[in-house]
Amino acid sequence: MRFSQASTLLALPLLAVADVPDYQAQFQEYLGQAQGYVDKVTSKILLPNRHDPVAAAEAKAGPMKMDILSLNNWKDTLYAPVEAGSTTPEEWWVLITGGNKTCFGHCGRIEAAFNETATQFAQTPGSPHTALLDCEKQPVLCNAWSAPVGALWIFEMLPEPAPINIWTKRLNMTTVTSDDFIELQKNDYKTAAKLHDGSFHPFNGQVAQYGASIPVGYVLWFFNLLPSWMFMIIVSMFSRSMMTNRMNAQMNDGRRPAATGQAAAR
Ligand SMILES: *[C@@H]1O[C@H](CO)[C@@H](O)[C@H](O)[C@H]1NC(C)=O
Ligand SMILES: *[C@@H]1O[C@H](CO)[C@@H](O)[C@H](O)[C@H]1NC(C)=O
Ligand SMILES: *[C@@H]1O[C@H](CO)[C@@H](O)[C@H](O)[C@H]1NC(C)=O
Repeated sequence: MRFSQASTLLALPLLAVADVPDYQAQFQEYLGQAQGYVDKVTSKILLPNRHDPVAAAEAKAGPMKMDILSLNNWKDTLYAPVEAGSTTPEEWWVLITGGNKTCFGHCGRIEAAFNETATQFAQTPGSPHTALLDCEKQPVLCNAWSAPVGALWIFEMLPEPAPINIWTKRLNMTTVTSDDFIELQKNDYKTAAKLHDGSFHPFNGQVAQYGASIPVGYVLWFFNLLPSWMFMIIVSMFSRSMMTNRMNAQMNDGRRPAATGQAAAR
């Protein structure tokens, strides 16, 4: 999604209420505030899909041989090494990371440790494939997966349409080193990690089965961006509109007996 689409999406709820004549004055009042907000967001916004293909290509070609996942490439990337008819899963280790906003700046250590591990894996045949998902740059994908930052997700990829097992593992972000990852790989990770069986599972989950992961990701991302005052406006306009409708209905009810009365008198 491009920037202009993103700001249109942000403005939609406001535009919807702006259409109601009764609220136009009130809307004007909020417009200044909203304008300021939209300006602020458009300068600071976590764009839903900021993928740097050059940096990604460098990471893939470099010593880490690491893929960078994005909204558009994650599925193709994860399926890429899977051979048709294969019954042995291709193992992907994906680190869910973030930056100052999504990880409060605490993901640096785990990311460095993971990068170091990726370099070691790249030199060792038969090692897992590695990829990074940066929630700062891919907030929609992270929301779609309901993926927490600072977690390792191990994907066991089989040819479509086989169900995909994902093992999730939280590591201590203040102490983690590359050795922790290496150890996890040496000792069976299945005993240390948790099998993902939630409804947000990117392949097997109910949301994904309905093809709704990405739309849901957008919705969750969008609501995360909405400041509380915008909710207040929307709620207040809805309730006022309901009150007005009810009052109109009551007034109409009041007039009707009078009209019948007149008709009866004639
Ligand atoms: C993250 O925050 C630290 C400390 O506040 C700052 O030095 C750094 O530049 C920030 N990084 C980004 C990418 O904004
Ligand atoms: C890890 O590697 C990725 C991909 O090249 C890079 O964007 C990121 O800055 C690296 N992180 C650290 C902490 O070195
Ligand atoms: C991480 O390790 C440190 C030092 O051992 C410990 O104090 C902290 O509680 C641990 N954090 C978690 C989330 O386990």
